[in-house]
Amino acid sequence: MDIQIIDIPKIKNARGNIGVIENDVVPFEIKRVYYLYDVPSSAKRGGHSHKNLKQMLVALSGSFDVVLKDGKKKQTITLNKPDKGLLITSNIWRELENFSSGAVCMVIASEAYDETDYIRDYKSFLEYIKTQS
Ligand code: TYD
Repeated sequence: MDIQIIDIPKIKNARGNIGVIENDVVPFEIKRVYYLYDVPSSAKRGGHSHKNLKQMLVALSGSFDVVLKDGKKKQTITLNKPDKGLLITSNIWRELENFSSGAVCMVIASEAYDETDYIRDYKSFLEYIKTQS
């Protein structure tokens, strides 16, 4: 599956850590940053794919699971470290669940928000990716 775990550079000393994400950390130009917080533990986020958008997800605090599907395989990745980013390319279905209390999911994105880039129906996603290979 076309996903990758990226090490986020950190500056570490006795007074704590700084994680730094500059443009060379991700394989796209950063156009948007947003974050999910105060997510109830029973909530599921995501439930869509993107035609063009690439994203890197980082658990800035707490933990959550990312369920990924590419039409052939399913993979679940738990994010719980602020120095690890999960890179998700386009045409991957994702669902985010099992948010711990206080979890913050930061998303670094390659594009500005564009609803026409979303596929929000799983059947349509399966049909769409057939046309892409
Ligand atoms: P959505 O991306 O579906 O959230 P999630 O994948 O986390 O469940 O977005 C939820 C709503 O917020 C939807 O109406 C679109 C809106 N939204 C914006 O307006 N701008 C943004 O940058 C994002 C991420 C969402």
